Amino acid sequence: MEQINDYMCRYKNFNFIKNITTAEYIDSLQSFEIRDSDIFLVTYPKSGTIWTQQIIISICELSGGLNEYPNNYYHMPWLEYIAGQKDYSLRPSPRLFSSHLTPTLMPPGLKDKKAKIIYVMRNPKDNIVSYYHFSSTFADLETPKSFEWLLEQFVKGNVPSSSWFDHIREWHLKKDQYNILFLTYEDMILDLKAAVTKICSFLGKNLSEEAIEQVVEKATFKTMKKDSKANYEFIPEERFSGKFLRKGQIGDWKNIFTVAQSERIDKVLQEKLGDLSLKFIWE
Ligand code: A3P
Repeated sequence: MEQINDYMCRYKNFNFIKNITTAEYIDSLQSFEIRDSDIFLVTYPKSGTIWTQQIIISICELSGGLNEYPNNYYHMPWLEYIAGQKDYSLRPSPRLFSSHLTPTLMPPGLKDKKAKIIYVMRNPKDNIVSYYHFSSTFADLETPKSFEWLLEQFVKGNVPSSSWFDHIREWHLKKDQYNILFLTYEDMILDLKAAVTKICSFLGKNLSEEAIEQVVEKATFKTMKKDSKANYEFIPEERFSGKFLRKGQIGDWKNIFTVAQSERIDKVLQEKLGDLSLKFIWE
């Protein structure tokens, strides 16, 4: 891995947080054996990963799965991280994974279209704000010199997981190769029950109306914040002094973006993704 700075490494055109993985392990994913029953959650960081984890895990639990994991991190580990990683071939099905990787780095076996991928996207302005607060409080990330600085790094893809724009683009352009459901953070905020129902049906889980309501309840911001298996407060304070469940809203960007910054993102968005006709909800 090429070390970029004190916090980040680069491998195969993708930025990783330092020490989180190795080149050999990332290479090994090319022969990672996929099961038809595997479920992958793919996101760009700060798009609602731990929220969707909670939904998927709750759906699997309520449809009869056993949960013997200490928390959601162990139940739905990031495929690309080596920390705490066990031999996944020994895991009972259905195996649940999270990932921030791009299609190129994912196991090619996913292209057989049986294993399922849920991809969650968030509007880039709120994504940047969430990233800004996260990197200000997470010791593994470079502390932003200012919001303007972080915004520039984000636009350049000079952050862990590289460019948000490239991530969205690559996954959308390659979607036909996968069994994939696209969701947005904003859709989940505006109608959580509809999002849960959509995920259930994509996963082929037939939950009763009552069970769906239970999943919704487990996944509200308020409930999750108190749920020690889901709120990631198990990360030691000296490593992370912020909150994963910080604000959980659409439109927080308006509290911090200047008009010029907002126009800059609009412009880059148009240049980089304008041809994909994606719809964004900004408030
Ligand atoms: P904010 O920082 O804007 O509050 P990730 O899990 O990908 O790191 O994303 C974290 C973002 O998802 C945070 O956004 C967090 O508050 C939000 N989030 C997590 N759980 C949520 C929930 N149950 N409802 C709404 N937002 C949630």
